[in-house]
Amino acid sequence: MITVTAPAKVNLHLEVLGLRSDGFHELAMVMQSIDLADRLSFQNTADAQLSLTCDDATLGVGDDNLIIKAAQLLRDRSGFRELGASIYLEKRIPIGAGLAGGSSDGAAALVGLNALWGLGHSPAALERMAAELGSDMPFCVAGGCQLCFGRGEQLEAVPPTPQPLAVLLVKDPTVSVSTPWAYKRCREVNQSHYLADEAAFEKRRQALRSVNWLHPLRSDLPPPLRNDLQEVVAPETAAVRSALDLLKSVPHSLAVAMSGSGPSCFALFSDLVSCRQAQDQLTPQLERAGLKAWSCALRSDGVRIEE
Ligand code: C5P
Repeated sequence: MITVTAPAKVNLHLEVLGLRSDGFHELAMVMQSIDLADRLSFQNTADAQLSLTCDDATLGVGDDNLIIKAAQLLRDRSGFRELGASIYLEKRIPIGAGLAGGSSDGAAALVGLNALWGLGHSPAALERMAAELGSDMPFCVAGGCQLCFGRGEQLEAVPPTPQPLAVLLVKDPTVSVSTPWAYKRCREVNQSHYLADEAAFEKRRQALRSVNWLHPLRSDLPPPLRNDLQEVVAPETAAVRSALDLLKSVPHSLAVAMSGSGPSCFALFSDLVSCRQAQDQLTPQLERAGLKAWSCALRSDGVRIEE
């Protein structure tokens, strides 16, 4: 049996540059893995079946699940139709939250089954397969902190931070946001300001490459968090507005933003201790607002096979 950890991510930056000819948005993002993770276990079966079970009954475990899609893609590419696996998912990352939980699970399936079936694909080959399945999936393979361009699949690593940064993550468990809806809304509101050509896109990419993303962080010089989807999701989603307001009220947080297409929001702290203190202080307000919270260290890796 093989067990794989699949961490969530937050967006330190999500900038919508323009529209692509394939209908997707051209993005410039900085994604960061965090220490909130699902766990997947893989067992070989001799029946050519791919089956998924999960400890969260609300999650679909059929052909739409990225874990099954990843397993099918990997098996198709291998040419060995008889390969089978029984997969168990321990779900800890909230679903539909803007934290890439489903993408990380899919990436974990590629990495775990590649090892279980002895296929010998390189991480780069697995990232290429991940890009066929979802925009956030390639990042999840290596994780850590990376610049993500194109649809999200063109990756450039950011060196790991020497600081023990942490995020206080907040989400209303009853609310989820549809990613296609968020991008559609963004297009309706902002298309007239979109950049028009590759030269303009590249100028923005170059500007992001020169930002010192995670070091040094000082309270008088907060990192430049930005999420263009926040502008269109927050006005339509009360749970995002109350999460952002609560996080902004916390002393000692360095910066506050929504992650991905929401509704999760987070505040960045210089260390896990001050992050946990802030969570403790906020507990009554969080409970009144119906928000769940997690204090998470940043991680310098993505999906990982456990020893
Ligand atoms: O690739 P993924 O499944 O993450 O994308 C979900 C949806 O989000 C897409 O179908 C598209 O509507 C939108 N999207 C986009 N531009 C991107 C990524 C996603 O418009 N770069």
